[in-house]
Amino acid sequence: MSLAGKRVLLIISGGIAAYKSLELVRLLRQRSCAVTAVLTEAAEQFVTPLSLQALTENPVHTRLFSLTDESRMGHIELSRSADALVVAPATANILARMAGGIADDLATTLLLATDKPVLVAPAMNVRMWLHAATVANMATLAARGVAVVGPDEGAMACNEVGPGRLAEPPAILQAIGALLAPAARPLEGRHALVTSGPTHEPIDPVRYLANRASGRQGHAIAAALAALGARVTLVSGPVSLPDPTGVAVRRVETAEQMLAACRAALPADVGVFAAAVADWRVARAAERKLKKTPGAAPPELALTPNPDILATIAAAGPLRPRLVVGFAAETHDLARHAEEKLRRKGCDWVVANDVSEGTGIMGGTENEILLVTAAGAEPWPRASKDEVARGLAARIAAALG
Ligand SMILES: Cc1cc2nc3c(=O)[nH]c(=O)nc-3n(C[C@H](O)[C@H](O)[C@H](O)COP(=O)(O)O)c2cc1C
Repeated sequence: MSLAGKRVLLIISGGIAAYKSLELVRLLRQRSCAVTAVLTEAAEQFVTPLSLQALTENPVHTRLFSLTDESRMGHIELSRSADALVVAPATANILARMAGGIADDLATTLLLATDKPVLVAPAMNVRMWLHAATVANMATLAARGVAVVGPDEGAMACNEVGPGRLAEPPAILQAIGALLAPAARPLEGRHALVTSGPTHEPIDPVRYLANRASGRQGHAIAAALAALGARVTLVSGPVSLPDPTGVAVRRVETAEQMLAACRAALPADVGVFAAAVADWRVARAAERKLKKTPGAAPPELALTPNPDILATIAAAGPLRPRLVVGFAAETHDLARHAEEKLRRKGCDWVVANDVSEGTGIMGGTENEILLVTAAGAEPWPRASKDEVARGLAARIAAALG
């Protein structure tokens, strides 16, 4: 990735992670990328213009109504002269102002006045990130073509855990490289159908059968396929993840609903069936809550098989996606079960993973897969689910030509 000679306008807003923007400047400068920093008023509480001036070797801008700044370089010229605008960290507040088209300080005026690519690196408390207002603002920004990196999941300064941590500076650097590189969109014009998450099979109006799937791998695949230019329909069971940007999400609960949503989404060039679909459902879910009667035996739940979504779509005749990818979560004999599943379900690839206790894969953030195709079984090294997703998306793009 070459950033030499490129010019980045780095907007730092007022979040606790603002100190990491100093490291980002260092990484950009190491690659001979020119950086001009703009701080919001709140950001000045976290990092000083002096540190940024020393690291960027450029004047730092903070105020819209600064006579000296306007005479040296007007605010419009400031955004015009950059190759890209990067907001890192991006607070919930600046994202809201960007989504609303508000220009009430130098940073937001520059963001509204630009026609250059914009990347945001959100960082905030997990509840702020998951708040409906922020979710809606992010969807608005994504629809306008604003690129996003992160946030990461993990422990935060506010002693909470979840999505909201600023992406690490090397990841932001990589995203800036991708933003400035000519876009590689090999899946442009293709439609991808992806399933994700668990299913919930009702026992009665308040109880259900479920599994430990988090939806992380399926959601990451949907995002990775969209990043390569595909139009993506994501059919998701109940998960607590934000919708991937630029993806059409169909929310379902049961296996039967998931199959109906998949059928409705066809035709597709590729189908990736990453959801952990319940094999069985309760034959007759009670219409009223089952009551616990003292002394009475517990209710017996008769189960009946659910439709096999993977096999059904793989046998969909003219509507069959050209490439059908199934997932196999196994606790033993991974390769044998995966190869057998490939034949039995009529799919083209099986992504097998070991979900035994102790691997931390089911519900976790990493994955270690065995990719089984007609050519054989290929073990992939353990990596984050995002990296596995990017690898699979690249393979899918290559397979579809
Ligand atoms: C100690 C402290 C830490 C903060 N950290 C964050 C943060 O990480 N993310 C965020 O969205 N807001 C954070 N805020 C709130 C913002 O500073 C506040 O919303 C401010 O108005 C943001 O202004 P700006 O977007 O113009 O920079 C923090 C506030 C304080 C006092």
